[in-house]
Amino acid sequence: MADTPPDAERTYDIVILGGGSGGYSCALRAAQLGLSVALVEKDKLGGTCLHRGCIPTKALLHAAEVADSARTGAKFGVNATLDSIDLATVHSYKDGVVGRLYKGLQGLVSSATIEYVEGHGQLTSPSTVQVGDRTLTGKNVVLATGSYARTIPGLEIGGRIMTSDQAMTLAELPERVVVLGGGVIGVEFASVFASFGAQVTVVEALPRLVAAEDEAVSKALERAFKKRKITAKTGVKFTGATQDETSVQVTLESGDTIEADLLLVAVGRGPVTDGLGFKEAGVSLDRGFVTTDERCRTAVEGLYAVGDIVPGLQLAHRGFAQGVFVAEQIAGLEPTPIDEAGIPRVTYCDPEIASVGLTEAQARDKHGEVSTYEYNLGGNGKSQILGTAGFVKLVRLPDGPVVGVHMVGARMGEQVGEAQLIYNWEALPDEVAQLIHAHPTQNEALGEAHLALAGKPLHAHA
Ligand code: NAI
Repeated sequence: MADTPPDAERTYDIVILGGGSGGYSCALRAAQLGLSVALVEKDKLGGTCLHRGCIPTKALLHAAEVADSARTGAKFGVNATLDSIDLATVHSYKDGVVGRLYKGLQGLVSSATIEYVEGHGQLTSPSTVQVGDRTLTGKNVVLATGSYARTIPGLEIGGRIMTSDQAMTLAELPERVVVLGGGVIGVEFASVFASFGAQVTVVEALPRLVAAEDEAVSKALERAFKKRKITAKTGVKFTGATQDETSVQVTLESGDTIEADLLLVAVGRGPVTDGLGFKEAGVSLDRGFVTTDERCRTAVEGLYAVGDIVPGLQLAHRGFAQGVFVAEQIAGLEPTPIDEAGIPRVTYCDPEIASVGLTEAQARDKHGEVSTYEYNLGGNGKSQILGTAGFVKLVRLPDGPVVGVHMVGARMGEQVGEAQLIYNWEALPDEVAQLIHAHPTQNEALGEAHLALAGKPLHAHA
């Protein structure tokens, strides 16, 4: 130990700025590979995903599912009534989940050989991060500062106008909600609020909800939302909102005004890169995002970026994978670059959406001719038991592999694991058709869809 210089002068193999999914995964993997690591976090280890994103919202969505089960119990012969939603208990359940995971993560990081540095970090050169009076020097620096909930110019967040950050900790349930933006966050919150009994209107500028998904999925979701009495106003421009003590008035370009108790702004997430010294260090930025090559390298030698600050899918598991990738890259393991299209995507509204690979339109653009098959969950026993509707849609190259899997229906998110193997292993429908899928599961729907594409549909109408 006598040889170890005091921390203030120490040079680490990696200094990581940001302790979210991208940053902490990089730290854990790097420590595992024997590299010395400093991990800088100004707020809480775990970042958006654990504290304000994936985990707490999915807890809300689960509570929403329980509410729906109570509400629809009689349909299954279980006579229950939904008395009320006790929001304080919903929050304590949600916070309990977050708290346990947070403790576990803190334990993981503290038991690894990682120096956890609490405080606001600033990049002061390509190889130094300043945290208070400490200068951390890294042979490599990884930028993993994440994203924030954006709003649109002129629409100030406050009071009844909020982003997912505030919506996560509401003290009272609104009766009427307008959701601005029909992307992933918009439809997930629309789903929660509707299950909790609110009247919900989603306002989306593009012609369809979840516009990044296959068009058939958007249509199915819009149908399902309509059945749930969620209003979707698509292809509609928002012009402004005003609020007072009793309500918020949302105006649209059509001239319509919608009155609500709450306006949730879900128009995308911006990168946290401003004022952190990135530009000054020579990092190239595109509308605030850090541009990298496929190996997560920025324009500056020894400086990497991972997660939501890098253009592309803003998903925790993408950031996580990039963090691991960079640690391995720095350790000289030459990891295989991540194929962005091969990253599974799940939206946890009801019904759930899960996809991997290319949409039909993207596949046609990229490959010209493609064929598709849509397997209706009407033919799937377990989906009938659950009382859900939806489908598995496959996109394949003529006589070639499956290049896109798109699924919609209750719980279909759980099927994305096999779907991503199929896509990433470039499986042929024949190969998947040979595999036996357990009965009765929703997983069979994936098997049946591939059987149909392989020319032997069994529980499907050709
Ligand atoms: P998003 O990009 O998914 O959707 C934003 C939507 O707002 C778009 O459809 C856009 O057309 C619309 N929009 C923008 N300006 C508008 C305007 N002025 N009027 C009406 N509509 C407007 O972004 P979102 O939903 O905020 O989510 C942010 C990120 O977080 C996404 O990248 C998403 O993938 C990620 N996320 C992922 C989750 C998951 O994987 N389950 C859950 C929640 C968020």
